[in-house]
Amino acid sequence: MMLVSPAFGGDVAAPTLREAAGHRLLIGTALSAANLDDPALTQLVATQFDCLTATNAMKPMHLQAVHGTFTFEAADRLVAFAHAHDMQMIGHTLCWHQQSPAWLFKDERGRPLPREVALANLKEHIQAVVKHFAGKVKGWDVVNEALSESPGPDLRDTPARRAIGDDYVVKAFEYAHEADPNVELYYNDFNIEQSFKRERTLRLIQQIRAAGLPVNGIGIQGHWLLDSPDVSEIEAGVRAFADAGLNVSITELDIDPCPRRHGTAGADLDAQEQSGMDPYKQGLPDEVQHQLAARYAELFAMLLKYPQVKRVTFWGATDGDSWLNNWPVRGRTNHPMLWDRQCQPKPAFDAVLRALQSKSVAGADLGK
Ligand code: GLA
Repeated sequence: MMLVSPAFGGDVAAPTLREAAGHRLLIGTALSAANLDDPALTQLVATQFDCLTATNAMKPMHLQAVHGTFTFEAADRLVAFAHAHDMQMIGHTLCWHQQSPAWLFKDERGRPLPREVALANLKEHIQAVVKHFAGKVKGWDVVNEALSESPGPDLRDTPARRAIGDDYVVKAFEYAHEADPNVELYYNDFNIEQSFKRERTLRLIQQIRAAGLPVNGIGIQGHWLLDSPDVSEIEAGVRAFADAGLNVSITELDIDPCPRRHGTAGADLDAQEQSGMDPYKQGLPDEVQHQLAARYAELFAMLLKYPQVKRVTFWGATDGDSWLNNWPVRGRTNHPMLWDRQCQPKPAFDAVLRALQSKSVAGADLGK
């Protein structure tokens, strides 16, 4: 597919990420249903990517805010867009402690529901959703962010865990597999590539497998910073998961060039900072722009060494539509993506394109 719009600099013959990725791996992005009304953005996405995730439209709060009333319209629009442009669709997500309606796991006074009631709610939600999208999505992030980052139990303290117990993750996989035995099932989380969370992740995968259920892949979200974590640390995580027989995807990639007070990568939505620096309101200095490109280049060069890495999905496409304009500091001007606010490619785009071109030409057709 070629670029056709003056919005991309008018170069009708410019190569694209999806062409460069070829059969080596899927290259994805995320859109909201509202984004579909932005012609410049949708053209860029359809041209550059061959895989799509819904930013919010498939989360429990958006599909079943009211118990028993399913609202699939926004998600269906995104699926139709993806398929119209020969893109694969990824389901995100069936079970998460954020963006989920309270009724799933709590009673009207906020207390955990009895286990059997919470399990019935979880099963009903997962099975209705998985069946609705059967044959239309390649795979599901079955459970998102179940793992804790604190000492103590492996699992985060969440409404699902309080109501059901530690086996809620296994149950979610069981319900999803039963509803569609052909769809791929993933576990998705942030910071799991790093040593402090890696063993926990492998233990959780082991529990799901011990119940006789498939885990087709692991999703490393990839909300990273300019200088952290080290690519060598990310590589150690990729290698550990690949060695455990898992396919690996980077599912929500962005590299934040802005400073953070807490200084760590990840995407804990509760880690919002009340105030913070907004140093790049007038644009990203050339020096930082080039650091960003170099970081993306180093990252892709590493990822492409591993045939188990089957997909890299960016969390958004342009700087203007990135969630990092509002997290962890609300309303700052951020520049994490491959295209600027005018949909113009940045040096980071060239860096990723070059990495994909060199590796996918050299590499065999590994099937994605
Ligand atoms: C997490 C979720 C995503 C998205 C991002 C930030 O990583 O998995 O769905 O909400 O946070 O927007």
